[in-house]
Amino acid sequence: MSFKIAVLPGDGIGPEIISSALSVLKIIDQTSSLSFEYTNGLIGADAIDKTGSPYPEETQKLCASSDAVLLGAIGDPKYDNNPEADVRPEQGLLAMRKHLEVFANLRPVKLFKGLERSVPLKEENVRGLDILFVRELTGGIYFGEPSEINADFTEAVDTCRYTKDEITRIARIAFEQARMRSGRVTLVDKANVLATSQLWRKVVQNLRDSDFQDIELSTMYVDNAAMQLILNPTQFDVILTENMFGDILSDEASILGGSLGLLPSASLGTNTPVYEPAHGSYPQAAGKNIANPMATLLSVAMMLETECDAKSEANQLRSAIAHCIKNGFTTSDVKNGTETTQSVTDKICQLIASDTI
Ligand code: IPM
Ligand code: MN
Repeated sequence: MSFKIAVLPGDGIGPEIISSALSVLKIIDQTSSLSFEYTNGLIGADAIDKTGSPYPEETQKLCASSDAVLLGAIGDPKYDNNPEADVRPEQGLLAMRKHLEVFANLRPVKLFKGLERSVPLKEENVRGLDILFVRELTGGIYFGEPSEINADFTEAVDTCRYTKDEITRIARIAFEQARMRSGRVTLVDKANVLATSQLWRKVVQNLRDSDFQDIELSTMYVDNAAMQLILNPTQFDVILTENMFGDILSDEASILGGSLGLLPSASLGTNTPVYEPAHGSYPQAAGKNIANPMATLLSVAMMLETECDAKSEANQLRSAIAHCIKNGFTTSDVKNGTETTQSVTDKICQLIASDTI
């Protein structure tokens, strides 16, 4: 039976990196027992231009009836700095996350061999870096009501709200992930100021004490965590945090892995899971064949492993990526690379097809 993928290229470099993912999936389809079926859908600015909605009904139906969503990127500068735009591309992404209830966003930051010296920190400070961010994705200030600006643009409000159930379900995922790693979870919050953070501490600690006594739980204020990620990043294993802190800290930490262009993500929850690179639509690079496809390909590897039970295919893809990185065969965002989206994609396809990795 083939695995049904909803393909949502989106905006900016989205179409190019998604086309790279489809080339690689085609090779995997040909060389393994896996079989994929693709249906394209509209999202983001592209969807607004064509339908008026950033997450049209047709895309909603497609996502809900697929086994996984593969998403490129969302965002277009024509909507930036325009607070009066009443529909924005990002609303499509948030609506999709909410609709599919993908509350757990996993973002693994790992340092690839060969990149130790291209990270802007001392080599000895990043050696062995392997952090998993478990970011809450469907709650908090991104979704709290009210969220509005008044008519004369003199006041605005956003609301951060969390419930015990929302915290429990994401904390459970963080603890389960930690069990498959070194068994340590750091809860990052701002419990010295925010009520929501105080609730997080209580709920997470209680869950640890009742169901995960084998896990070592520590807590850290988000301002300190931002500093510790630069000062001593290898102290972290699993970082569990709420929506906005996770957004900010995972971008920061991606630099420790060599480039934001290498940060994949999996968003898991109650309905169809979503796989997407953590970087944005990088509009300046759109159509130039310079975008790094690796974050998307690493997201595909996460999809193969998690949804298709295809660990060896996932590892083969990861090895092909690691091989390119080690040999300096990268786009320019990584280690002065000079390759293109297409040449990196071709190389990875070739490595998989010839089974030389
Ligand atoms: C991300 C992005 C999104 C977010 C934006 C595009 C809404 O930055 O996936 O990290 O803030 O969640
Ligand atoms: Mn982000």
